[in-house]
Parts: sequence; structure tokens; C-alpha cells
Amino acid sequence: MVPPKNFTVEYAINPWMGGVVDQQKAQTQWDGLKNAIEKQGVQVLTMEQTKGLPDQVFVCNSGLVFDNKVYLSRFRHKERTGEQPLYLEWFKKNGVATIGEEYPEIFEGGGDAVFSDRQTLWAGYGERSSKSVYERIKALGQFDIVLCDMVLPNFYHLDTCFAPVDETTSLYYPAAFSDATQKEILRRLPNSIAVSEAEANAFVCNAITVRNTVISPIGVSAATRDALKTRGKDVEEVDMSEFMKSGGACQCLVLRLL
Ligand code: ARG
Repeated sequence: MVPPKNFTVEYAINPWMGGVVDQQKAQTQWDGLKNAIEKQGVQVLTMEQTKGLPDQVFVCNSGLVFDNKVYLSRFRHKERTGEQPLYLEWFKKNGVATIGEEYPEIFEGGGDAVFSDRQTLWAGYGERSSKSVYERIKALGQFDIVLCDMVLPNFYHLDTCFAPVDETTSLYYPAAFSDATQKEILRRLPNSIAVSEAEANAFVCNAITVRNTVISPIGVSAATRDALKTRGKDVEEVDMSEFMKSGGACQCLVLRLL
């Protein structure tokens, strides 16, 4: 995770970006998310945020990690390309093998690509990652790559409308996907929970599951909470209002290394 020392909203590269960030509040919210993860007995490593790179807090976009290797991102927008060499350096220093220092496609790492188990990578494309880049991602290891068609501009990264919960469950917002992708989600993750439009707009799909707890932005409905309970999951809501001014929340603020 990257503490929000220099987090602001200075430009708009997605439809949610706007407003003024309360920096104190952002720090408190970020601490709340980090505490919620650490409470589960999971260690959080951090990286400093460089001034002039306000979106670096969304470290999930730095790459995709599998088996202690990372496929590095190539950002779509020039506003974020300055983050790339910093991530490369961090991964090298921390013993994560790096692949993909140079290639022509775009790829925004964990923002568009997420595993539901070691055999299954969910791969969004369109706004922020190229469809063809997933041919390259195969260099990371042996797993199925499920290409996901995303059809709504507001849900511009896969992690804005999809969150794996366990090997048979996800939280997803059906309207953000083509019919074929909706079917594939239900085929491979049959216990998936469809969230409402209100929940999707509250970024409920931008959740992470740590052990048996789903850590989500505020706005989980009673129905979703009950459905998760049936699947043995607790919900912990954290206020992410400041980060949502930049179009991000829990899933975007964390890069899973293991
Ligand atoms: N303002 C950032 C951008 O548009 C937000 C990134 C959110 N990250 C994510 N994984 N969805 O690039």
C-alpha cells in the first residue's frame, strides 16, 4: 500500500474524478483500511508516494503478481506513466521478479486483472488495458484467462464492478458486463452475488476479501450482507469517500503480493 502523503485530484482520467480531497480525512480512511487488513493477521508493506503522482496511492495498478513475479503495468494516461519506474524499483528492491519492462500495449495491472484462484485470472479490457496484452500475461504462469467485456464507461476498471470473494463466489455488477461475460461469471463462480446499481455506485464491488472478511466501502445492502453471511463471510465497511473522488477504493489501494 502507498500512504496518501501527496494524494489529490488534479486531473480527470475517469468519469468519477472531481472535488477537493480532505487530506487529513484521506489519511484516516487509508489507516482504517490498513488496520482492517492487519487485523486479519496479514502483513502490509508500504511504499512512499512521490510528489506530482497523485494517483500512486492506487498501487493495485502497478502490475499483476503471481508466484512472486510481477507483470509490470503500462499506463494508458501520461498522468500515471511516471509511476512505472518507481514500481519497478520497489519490486526489485523487495525481491519480486519483474517481467514486462517494455511493450507496446496498455495494461493497468490489478485494476483489470484479478485471480479468483490459482487457475483462474479474470481479465478486463477496453478502457485501461488492451485485450491483446493478455497474450503476454501468459508468461506469468499456467492459468485460464477469462476475458471480460465491460460495457459501461463508469466501470472503467474490472475492479470497479467485480471482486472475487472465494473460489466459487464474487461480488459483481451485472449491468457492467456483456451477457456472455455475465454467464461466464456465473458458470465459473456459481455462488456470485449480483449487487444493485446503488451498491455499484457506492463502489461495493471495489472490495477485497482477507481470510473470511469482505472489506468494502460503505454501502453494502442487507441482502448482500446476508448472501455473504450464508457463504461464511463477514463484512467490514470502511469509509473511502476521499478516494472515491478519484474513482478508487479498497481494491485499488492494495496490491496483493501473495
Ligand atoms: N484516479 C485513478 C485512475 O483513474 C484511479 C485508479 C483506481 N484504481 C483501480 N484499480 N480501479 O487511474
